[in-house]
Amino acid sequence: MPLKSEKSFYITTPIFYPNANLHMGHAYTAVISDIFSRYHKLKGEQTYFLTGSDENTQKVVEASLKAGKNPKDFLNEIVLNFKNLFSKLNISYDQFIRTSDEIVHFPGAIKLWQALVSSGDIYKKKYEGLYCVGHESFMTEKDLVDGMCPDHKMTPEKIQEENYFFRLSRYNQILKEKIESDELKIVPNGRKNEIMSLLNDGLEDVSFSRSRKVSSVGIPVPGDSDQIMYVWCDALSNYISALGYGREDDSLFKKFWPANLHVVGKDILRFHTAIWPAMLLSAGIPLPQTILAHGLITSGGRKMSKTLGNVIDPIELLNEYGADAVRYYLARHISPFEDGDLTKEAFLDAYNASLANGIGNLASRILKMAVSYEAFPDFSQSEDNQLPEEYKRLMEEYQVNKAADFVWEKIQGLDLFIQKEEPFKVFKGNPEKARQDVSYLVSELWNIAFLLGPFLPETSEKIKSAIKDKKMIESLFIRK
Ligand code: MSP
Repeated sequence: MPLKSEKSFYITTPIFYPNANLHMGHAYTAVISDIFSRYHKLKGEQTYFLTGSDENTQKVVEASLKAGKNPKDFLNEIVLNFKNLFSKLNISYDQFIRTSDEIVHFPGAIKLWQALVSSGDIYKKKYEGLYCVGHESFMTEKDLVDGMCPDHKMTPEKIQEENYFFRLSRYNQILKEKIESDELKIVPNGRKNEIMSLLNDGLEDVSFSRSRKVSSVGIPVPGDSDQIMYVWCDALSNYISALGYGREDDSLFKKFWPANLHVVGKDILRFHTAIWPAMLLSAGIPLPQTILAHGLITSGGRKMSKTLGNVIDPIELLNEYGADAVRYYLARHISPFEDGDLTKEAFLDAYNASLANGIGNLASRILKMAVSYEAFPDFSQSEDNQLPEEYKRLMEEYQVNKAADFVWEKIQGLDLFIQKEEPFKVFKGNPEKARQDVSYLVSELWNIAFLLGPFLPETSEKIKSAIKDKKMIESLFIRK
């Protein structure tokens, strides 16, 4: 397969489980993915950004029964909520894939399965395993702590079935080489080490299908309608089925695969760095370039949970403070490489310090002076600004929070400049000098607005259009 053009960038989020509405943790995955996607667009690359929902699961069936709805209606409702949240968050995805979509998704999953069969990597076996309902996956004794799943604090059920298996063990060595050499890059390094030690322990073959008697939803295994595909082939294949793999029109697949970046939370890293690349190797499909595993978001130091009452609903914050305020907190106050914390108090502190009283004040002060002193530089040609090397480096190392710091340092720099030069005082005695200073401030503000684009798209646009239309911005951020 020819390598795709350097100028294209394909980025994905995981597909979200629609058994409940999304919380702030999910919003984090979507926001940082959107920041990367917008950054690559800013660089002039052709970008394709995929997100979606992971629908063929028993969890969804159970949740819909609980809600007293039929699964289809339930799914449609929740997916609408996902899309509503993403639109409020300004997530600029190109496609939202739903794995229950028989036209868009099924053909790719089926073709991938068939490719694994052709490579001799699928075999049938009687299996007795420990099944964790929370993970919707089989676990090995090694994964358990005191006989329980450490994530769900539940004792897995013993289940006996005849399933198809995928020969994952066959790819152990080659995965080790590709991950060690960064041909398949795992970020951050600590997560890479974690996967390397998993590979050093050795991978076991994995169960790849379920009996239709056990699970009522899913994609039928080609040639054996008593079995349905298990989550691996069903869900992971979304990254290529969305591009047309397995369908007549696979032009997006030809243009954008391999993915440049899969963004995932650390809880699903193993699936993406062992099973997924092994499937691709088996099918002769090029591997994705990078897998970024971000940490998890807690609230007040504890996992968000309804019982603890510390769940932060993104919609509530978005309705009150807008997309940029939420994006700002997630981007700047959480490191993608570690777990991060979010409380309403911390959110409000950050909002008041850097948005309401920071960039908002600065932009309106500068533009007020520019309007009254008629001090606007010429911006007719300025769409294609050069990105500073440091900003590019940080973004390309996925250090979203540091790249945001870089922009806010520039914002502080302008504040200091105003404090020092005091153009509003200078204007009385030396209007020419004041005009020069303010014109410089406006051009710097323009550059800042440009760099802010991936983080705060709304603010960035507002500042740019105010500068272009030579008008001032009143109360840019103060919503209340
Ligand atoms: N459906 C699977 C992914 C299959 S991808 C082929 C899944 N879905 S999920 O809805 O549970 O999670 C989706 C994403 O949200 C994952 O990246 C997960 O890590 C992330 N998060 C869920 N809770 C989170 C936090 N509390 N904090 C940060 N991210 C979290 O897994």
